[in-house]
Amino acid sequence: MHHENGARRSFEWSYATKKMHKALFEQAFAAVDQGRDAELGPVQVCEMCGYTLEGDAPDKCPVCGAKKETFRAFS
Ligand SMILES: [Fe+2]
Repeated sequence: MHHENGARRSFEWSYATKKMHKALFEQAFAAVDQGRDAELGPVQVCEMCGYTLEGDAPDKCPVCGAKKETFRAFS
């Protein structure tokens, strides 16, 4: 039972991350569609866990604790 709960939690966490990615990409695509792609700054993605944010990479990933160097920038 505990095992199942853990699996469900990790599933929900990964679902939330995907939803966040989707929102960011939709924002980027909408900006490109309207010819104003400069509005979205560089996007940083944590290669360890997939955490994504707009702007500068944090010193440490707030989700998995990976170092700044683990982030990859997409602009
Ligand atoms: Fe991370």
